[in-house]
Order: sequence, then C-alpha cells, then structure tokens
Amino acid sequence: MANVIIAPSVLSADFSHFSAAAAEIDASGAEWVHLDVMDGRFVPNITFGPKLLEDLRPKTGAVFDAHLMINNPEAFIPQFARAGADYITFHLEAAVHSHRILSSIRELGKKAGIGIVPSTPVSALDELLALADLVLVMTVNPGFGGQKIIPSCLDKVRSLVRIRSERELGFLISVDGGINEETAVAARQAGVDVLVTGASFFNASDKVKLVRSLKG
Ligand code: DX5
Ligand code: ZN
Repeated sequence: MANVIIAPSVLSADFSHFSAAAAEIDASGAEWVHLDVMDGRFVPNITFGPKLLEDLRPKTGAVFDAHLMINNPEAFIPQFARAGADYITFHLEAAVHSHRILSSIRELGKKAGIGIVPSTPVSALDELLALADLVLVMTVNPGFGGQKIIPSCLDKVRSLVRIRSERELGFLISVDGGINEETAVAARQAGVDVLVTGASFFNASDKVKLVRSLKG
C-alpha cells in the first residue's frame, strides 16, 4: 500500500496558538495541515477565514489542505488561494455549479477538492471526478471535531477506488471525521490516500508515534 498522507486538523488545536500547532504537526511527521473553515450556515459552527492561512503560511512548509464548509464557496476561493492554500476543497452540497468551481480552482493554480457529507452518495460526483484532484469523504456530519466515525461511509471510499481505476483518474481520496488509530485500519483497508485527524492528533501525548501508527 502506498504511503498514506496524514493531515492533522487545527480545529482541535488551541486557537490562541496556531503557530505552535503548526510546529507540532511538522515535528510529528505529518505532511499536511488540514484547515477547517466554517461559516455558521453550511455547518452549525464558526472557525476562521483566509487571514489565518496567510499568517500561518510562513510558519510551516506543510501542504495547506483547506476544507471549506461554507455556503457560496466560489465567493471566497480566490482569497484562500491568495492566502496560501495548496488544496482547496468545497462541498458539493453547498454549490450549484460545482463543475465550474472545480475548474476555477485549477485555474488559480491550486489543487481542486470536492467534499461530500455522509448523506450524499458517490454517484452525485459522477460528472465531477475528472475535474477533481481530491475527493473528501466526510465520515461524520461536519461541524465539530471529536465525533465518532460513521463506518458505512468507508464504503464510499471503496467505490471511489474502483471508479478511479476504471476511468484511469488521478484524484486522491481523503477521509475526515472520527479517525484514530483503530478506525484508521479500516480506512486504510478501504484504500484512502489521506487521513484527516483532529481530536486524536491533538490529544495524543506522543504525536510521532500516533502518526506512525496511523500510517500503518
Ligand atoms: C469536521 C471537520 C474535521 C474535524 C475532524 O467537520 O471537517 O476536519 O476536524 O476532527 P476529528 O478527527 O476530531 O473527528
Ligand atoms: Zn475537515
């Protein structure tokens, strides 16, 4: 199995010390920083905007994986691109013109991601997969860290792996929500490329050991 990328989510970090969180992520051996942007409308929680990415960008060389849980994502994507996001993922459920938005992210020179919540089937992505660099499968209902995984969502990972190979596509598959040392085993078996981890990462006393274990 290829090396799984670990993307700790700063949603579970101390919000008064984001640069310390970035340093902890770097030191752990994780490759990406997952940045959960919430608007209080698409999801029942509010986090931060592009200014955080901009200020954090010089503090770490890690890949910035921006996860936009916001309505009207197209209005904000250019700001996140300028702020230093590498991957920009928006939600299928939050947009009408997902096809256009995916292309516009690539035109900004960024990797284009699309996310689906647990109630959305993989079939809803059918017309979009060729335009995506990353598909984010939510394994909890978005809005909060520290929730329990909904195991049936991993079936979507298996479907995506199959479709990707049938169509010879190249998107990465990411899972987000309830990932810990135990659930990572099933996620890896399903074929994920990226594991997002919030609570289990920031609660771990030995983060190097945790990252090694999540990678399997
Ligand atoms: C939830 C966010 C997740 C969250 C995952 O809406 O999208 O990225 O931080 O947190 P854990 O790993 O704690 O479930
Ligand atoms: Zn997320």
